[in-house]
Amino acid sequence: MTSPVVAEAEDLVRSGIQRVSAAESLDDLAELQTELLGKKSRLNAMRATLKDASPEDRKTLGRALNVSRTELEKSLKGRKAVITERVRRAALDAEQLDLTESLGRVRVGHVHPITQTWERLEDVFVGMGFSVEDGPEVETDWFNFEALNLPPSHPARSLWDTLYLDSSEIPGVAQEQLVLRTHTSPVQVRTMMRAVRESSGPPIYVVCPGRVYRRDTADATHLPVFHQIEGLVVDEGITMGDLSGTIEEFTKAYFGESLTSRLRPSYFPFTEPSAEVDISQSDGSWLEVGGCGMVHPNVLRHAGLDPERWTGFAFGFGIDRLAYIRHGVADLRDLVTNDMRFLEQF
Ligand code: DAH
Repeated sequence: MTSPVVAEAEDLVRSGIQRVSAAESLDDLAELQTELLGKKSRLNAMRATLKDASPEDRKTLGRALNVSRTELEKSLKGRKAVITERVRRAALDAEQLDLTESLGRVRVGHVHPITQTWERLEDVFVGMGFSVEDGPEVETDWFNFEALNLPPSHPARSLWDTLYLDSSEIPGVAQEQLVLRTHTSPVQVRTMMRAVRESSGPPIYVVCPGRVYRRDTADATHLPVFHQIEGLVVDEGITMGDLSGTIEEFTKAYFGESLTSRLRPSYFPFTEPSAEVDISQSDGSWLEVGGCGMVHPNVLRHAGLDPERWTGFAFGFGIDRLAYIRHGVADLRDLVTNDMRFLEQF
């Protein structure tokens, strides 16, 4: 016959397992563990009564109590694993990004109006048979000025408010030898020298868009950092007629048939003769976009070309100015202050 102690222990196990499997949280489980197996548990109290039992009974009862404890421990452990896994899954689900949510609201940006203008200009000139060249923004005084027929102390140097780099710590470089290029014109000289080096000279038909720098205060029509596109053609028998034809062709291709260009006599040390380029506005006025001219023989000579054989023309336009005309921007500074309300219009 089963002893009442054994029967109670079996009851404890049955009801204990039931409660354990109904526990929903790790906290509930910890409480149950204390209640079922802790110091003040019924199982513990029953163990204390063993000392009064006969040696024979003590053995059977002791074993029954041990089995009960093991059963309860096993059930607590199993339930703990289930709840832990459930908690982990819930945390993962909570962290998951709901990507479907933003689908309807994706906002696609677009390239900056200056970059748009830059890329369109490249397209137009490539369409006219030019290739695109590149040059460094940090230039030597020689490329930026001297090779362009502007020897040191030439009065026209004051036309370019120049930012000099501190070269005092560069071995072998004298002070005031490195500048942030004030225009893209030094690329003319680099391109001609490369042509001499790599393909024994012209023909050269290139444009070079790039960033340039001036020691200048920003206002509605000037920026200290801005963009130019330089053009250079060197070949046999190139004339001023080729220059004005190219600029008119460009004007029509870029702005449309209704706009036209004109050349106004001017002075640049690296061209002779030189001219300013104006483009007609829809209201009949003219806006200056840059300069041009026939490449000065001294510039050809500096680049290693014989001016008796080769002639050429060059031009340099302000990219920001062209963006300004095309989009009717009122203040150049708006192009660089990154106000999204302004930029989103383009
Ligand atoms: N480099 C000149 C400037 O920044 C613009 C210019 C004028 C470029 C005449 C040329 C040119 O190539 O022929 O003011």
